[in-house]
Formats: sequence, structure tokens, C-alpha cells
Amino acid sequence: MKSDKKIAVIDFGGQYAHLIASRVRRLGAYTEIVSNEESIEKYKEYSGIILSGGPSSVYEPDAPLLPDAFFELNKPILGICYGHQLLMQKLGGEVISSNSKEYGPASLHLLRNESSLLTAGVNDQTIVWMSHGDEVTKLPPGFSVKGESEHCRYAFVSNETEKKYGIQFHPEVTHSIEGGKILSNFIEICGVANTWNLKSFLDQEIAVLQTKVPVGKNVFLLVSGGVDSSVAYLLLAKALGKERVKGLLVDTGFMRKNEVSDLKANLNSMGFDLTVWDASEAFYSGLKDKSEPEEKRRIVGDLFLSVQAKAVESMKLDSDNWILGQGTIYPDTIESGGTKHSHKIKTHHNRVPAIQDLIEAGKIVEPIADLYKDEVRELGKMLGLPDFWIERHPFPGPGLVVRMIASKENRGEKILPRLEALLTSRNKPVGAGVLPIQSVGVQGDQRSYAHAAVLSDPGKSWKELDEISILITNSIKELNRVVFMPGVSQLPSRFAYTELKMDQAHADLLREADAIVNRIIFEKKIHKEIWQMPVVLIPASLKEGTYGIVLRPVESREAMTANFYEMDISILSEISAEILKLEAITAVFYDLTHKPPGTIEWE
Ligand code: XMP
Repeated sequence: MKSDKKIAVIDFGGQYAHLIASRVRRLGAYTEIVSNEESIEKYKEYSGIILSGGPSSVYEPDAPLLPDAFFELNKPILGICYGHQLLMQKLGGEVISSNSKEYGPASLHLLRNESSLLTAGVNDQTIVWMSHGDEVTKLPPGFSVKGESEHCRYAFVSNETEKKYGIQFHPEVTHSIEGGKILSNFIEICGVANTWNLKSFLDQEIAVLQTKVPVGKNVFLLVSGGVDSSVAYLLLAKALGKERVKGLLVDTGFMRKNEVSDLKANLNSMGFDLTVWDASEAFYSGLKDKSEPEEKRRIVGDLFLSVQAKAVESMKLDSDNWILGQGTIYPDTIESGGTKHSHKIKTHHNRVPAIQDLIEAGKIVEPIADLYKDEVRELGKMLGLPDFWIERHPFPGPGLVVRMIASKENRGEKILPRLEALLTSRNKPVGAGVLPIQSVGVQGDQRSYAHAAVLSDPGKSWKELDEISILITNSIKELNRVVFMPGVSQLPSRFAYTELKMDQAHADLLREADAIVNRIIFEKKIHKEIWQMPVVLIPASLKEGTYGIVLRPVESREAMTANFYEMDISILSEISAEILKLEAITAVFYDLTHKPPGTIEWE
């Protein structure tokens, strides 16, 4: 049930716009995403407005703006990051490109003698998440500073009389420890507390599905076995009845060890009408020599569609009467450039053009496309999905395809001297190297494709490793990741590069390494502390003709941001030793990068 009391999030394209909306809904207020090009009348419908972050700079000629009349609206406004800068600039302040770009945690210091409704109940010293390259240097009339951080003088400013607030940090990400409190306070300020919850989403979505899939038509759902497609299935079955929903699992050849057989047994026991279609040959031959991350994703997306068409034919489903169902969730949409201003970070396989065409033709339903992972899990609980299923780590649709880095050799020769100089100047005695390949990351809301720094094992604490990692990615933009080699005190002068093909042999090698990791993290019962743990096969190692494995365990809530997980060292040593027993693997790397600046997956 939609409330007439609602909050708008104006989307300036940051990856965070939808996250803000989702957070605010979870805090109990109905929220809608709105473009910055709506009429003033539209904005008047809302009880309060949040201006999101975004990849642009307010002083650029084509920066997304808002009309002057917007700033005269007599409503609470909260500007976040880009939104803060826009608010400041439009009201008469000043914004410039900052010398020191800031990505990562920062300590916000609230000024005691300057109280604000927005930070009521928040500690005077609190950790917030920063991600910006521009900064405000002069405030508009009527505004005063309420909080500052080491590198940001105007981290939090407000005009309390007009209920206008500007914050440079991101309260919507869980790394901003008291971000939820700040957003709750804004909801209070807008007078819309307790107007929305997930149960009301469920009721609404059931009604929507019953209209979208009229009696006589059925849904044919692509099942991956993960939480998302399972919850999508249960939701569709609840709305339409089990007999109207049929599942298809496409075996791409890039699934995990024993995954398909386990899944089939589990899904069948839950009453799913599931067909498994083995398409591994088509996927191996389509991807064999491909190295570009975006091209690989596009091929996977296209193959999914053509395989599905074949499967439909063989299953004798009349395509006029069947609609395609998908368990797409919010991050899949938003990080594929799903909103107008966002930079494309990755094309998720279920957002390739052919699928977009189907969506536009109305032949697809995506019942959980507005939800984040934690909401999907909670909805799964409400729909009766067993706990062990809900606890499964998320697994990307393209599977191991995005965890086999087949990129060409690229040494980035000039980076190492700069890296070494940086570490020396900051007195960090640790061996350093650079991997001869690049991986995908996200810096300042934009996609990056850059190298990873490698550190020897300095025997230091996770905290110290974290500091070195943040220092490196903040200082050298050609590096978007930092990994270290557990137990290795001396790095080679040069890492070996061995071409990696997207074929069955290499997929089998990764499957073995991945199975070792999963066995150990379940045995040691740390799988619940880890949100997701990609195990990545890379063409860089210590010996020609062999490969490396990257361990990428992260803590996250919604995949939009993540922290690397600090694993117990004895467990890490055990995992590393077990993996190194595989003959074709001679190097194990542990990823020390948060998101941003690295994405969770390496591609
Ligand atoms: P990144 O790597 O962008 O991942 O930080 C965020 C979350 O999305 C998953 N992921 C995908 N899921 N299709 C999917 O269905 C994809 O193409 C895809 N790529 C990444 C990733 O595993 C993480 O949970």
C-alpha cells in the first residue's frame, strides 16, 4: 500500500541513488526514485527530497542540474555528496575539484555547539563513508558548518530554519556506522515515519504479478539455484499458483563443482517443476578465446537467450502463452547503468540488449528487481525458504565466467617505481609488485579497469594492511586493487604470465580450488560471517605454465559497497596450503580492497 506521505530520491546517477531509496524504505518511509528533469509540480508531491550522489562535477557544462524553482520549495531537502555540492552551488556557495580525492572511511566530528535535528542522537565522533573528488569551499548564506572530517571542512552543513541539509559522506552505506540514524532523523523531519514495510511490498507485488501475468499465461523461470531466483520463484508461485510456474536451469559449464546435481535434488524436493538443460558445449566454444570482460558478459547473455529459446522449443512451451521470469535484483539493474546518469560499471548478463527488448515488449517479469539482497533474504524467510538456503552466498549469473580472468598480458611497467616510492616515503616496509593484468573496479562512481598492487606478507595486522591498501588506491589511480601473498616474505622480481582459456580444463581447475575454499569455510563455520567469497583464477603466478588464485572474501549487506573480510590467519594458511597442492597453481593472493575502489568480482 503506497502512502501519500513519501520521500523522493532525485537520481544523479551515483551507484548509491537506489540504495538511499531502499534504506529509507527499510527505515519505514515509502520512497520513490525521481529524475532531475521532472516538473516542479511532481516534486511538490513529496514530503521531503533527497538529492543523491553522482559521478558528475557540478561545475561541468553538462552536469545534471535542477531548476531554480526547485530550491525555493518549502520542503526538507537532504543533499548527499554530489547532491550536497549541487545544493551548495545553487544556493550561492562554491564547489571546486579537490586536490586530495577521498575514498573510504573517515571520522566525522560533530561540532557540539552547533546542534542539528539531522544528527540528533548521533555520537560526536562517528565513522562515515566518503567517495568524492570535489569539495565545497564556501557556504551559501544561512548555512553553517555542523560537522567536519580530517580532509573535508564542510562534511556536514545545514540551514536548520529552512530544513536544508548537505552532507559530503554517504549515510546510506552500512560503513557509515550511524548513517541509518541520520536517515531516520531526516524521515522524522519530513514527518513520514512508519509509512512502509516489506510486508506491504509483498502484498503490492502479488497484485502487480496477477495483473502482469493474466490468467491463461504462465511463467517460465530461469533458475540458478541462488537465493534470488528461488525467492522470485516462491513469490511467483504464491501470486500465480505452483502449476503456472516452470523452472529451467541452464548448465553453462561454468557452475561450481557438483552444483547442478545438488541443486536439482534440492529444488525437486521443494516441489519445483525443474528442467536442467546442459549447454556447456555452447558456452565453452562461444567463450574459448575471449578475454574482454564486457565481451564475455555479452556472449553469456546472448547464449542464455538462444539456449533458452532452444529449451523452450524442446519443452514445447508455446511462447505466446509463456512469459520469462527472472530473479534480477536491484544491484544488477543499477550497476548496469540502469538509471539515466549512472556510468556503466558492468553489464550484468541479465541486462543485455536482447533481454531489455523482451522487457520492453512486456515478455519478462522480474518480481524482485526493486529489492536488495538483504530484503530478498528477508522476503525469502517470509515466504518459507529454509535457512540453509537463505544463507547461501550470492553467486553471479555468469558464474565462473567472471571469475576466470583471461585478460591479455599488461605489465603497467611504470607503476611499480611509483608504488615503491610511495611505500618508502610513508615508511611502510613491505615488498611490492604489480600484477601483469587488470581488473574491474569502481572509483568515484565510475568504472575503472586497472592493475592490482601485490604486497609480500609483512606479518602485520589486518588494520595495518587495510591502511596500506587504502593509501595505495587513494594515491595511485592506475591501481584499483591491492592483494597480498599470505606466507610469502619475498616477492618475485616479475610475476609469470600464462595465457588462460575459457575452456573446460581451466573451469575444472577453478572448480577444484573453489571447492577447497568452500569446504574449509563451511567446516570452520566462517561462511556466515562472509557475505560472498569469489575465488578467482588469474593468469599470473610464480611459475610459467601455472596460474594464480585470488581469494576475495567480503563483508557486505547489499553488494553496492563491501569491506574485505579479515580472515583468521590459521584458516587462511590452511586454505592457501590446500590450494597450493593443486599442481597448476603456484600463487595464492588475498584481496585487501574495499568496494569502492574494487568491485566484488574481478570482472
Ligand atoms: P560487483 O562485482 O559489481 O558485484 O561488485 C556486485 C554483486 O553482483 C554480482 N554480480 C553479478 N550478478 N550477473 C549477476 O547476476 C552478473 O553479471 C554479475 N556480476 C556481478 C556479484 O557476484 C556481487 O554479488
